[in-house]
Amino acid sequence: MRILFIGDITGKSGRDIVSSLLYSLKQEYQADLVIANGENSAHGKGITIRIYRQLIDECVDYITMGNHAYSKAEIIDHFEETDHLIMPYNHEKRTQDNYYAIISYKDMKFCLCNILGSVLMPESVMDPYTAFREVVEHTRQYDPDFWFVDLHAETTAEKRMFVEYFKDQAKVVVGTHTHVQTADEDILNGCAFITDVGMCGAYDSVIGRDVEETIRANIEKEKTRYTVAEGPAIFCGVLIEIDEKEKRPVGIERIQIRPE
Ligand code: FE2
Repeated sequence: MRILFIGDITGKSGRDIVSSLLYSLKQEYQADLVIANGENSAHGKGITIRIYRQLIDECVDYITMGNHAYSKAEIIDHFEETDHLIMPYNHEKRTQDNYYAIISYKDMKFCLCNILGSVLMPESVMDPYTAFREVVEHTRQYDPDFWFVDLHAETTAEKRMFVEYFKDQAKVVVGTHTHVQTADEDILNGCAFITDVGMCGAYDSVIGRDVEETIRANIEKEKTRYTVAEGPAIFCGVLIEIDEKEKRPVGIERIQIRPE
């Protein structure tokens, strides 16, 4: 089984590059399943029902989120119809059990979940280690062969530690949130891992945010309105190959396409 995981889709530039590339990438990499992090897809913060439907229509099978999961509150009114939207287990605003999906493929079954880190992550109400233990406890009843974790966290060490500690259960751990793709993809003790997948968003930006506005807000201390950068986008993702007989990952490959 080949799983294409797409890094944080950020604003319109990110949505546009996914729209234009996804079909051909899916063919090229022969992906059986597409998962995308969509927590920045609506103007950099959150997701709307319109964008959820658009991504699903464009062949994204599941959408994971992050600290901005609830930034566009309207999505809460649509939870009944967004059963392929995976919210972070340990987010302070989570009230429903929409933090996992059980995905079957041939004779294999795995649990996809979304967990927040605890460092520089004020929306997190529980450290990621306790959170994952609880997710495993709650979802063990479905008898998954392994857990696939989108670990939405700021620091490299926290993400690496997570893999070292949970490698027997979490056979895939992909880091999201920093928007910068790392070059450390590997199978670590049987677990496919990358510290951060990177983003799909405007290349000429500060991790997807408008350069001028970011400088005025953070260095010149002006009161500004959060502005997502526009323009040609970078596409970041990873392709994970799972041996469905052995029920374990056998490959992880970085994908990064920069604008010309
Ligand atoms: Fe984030």
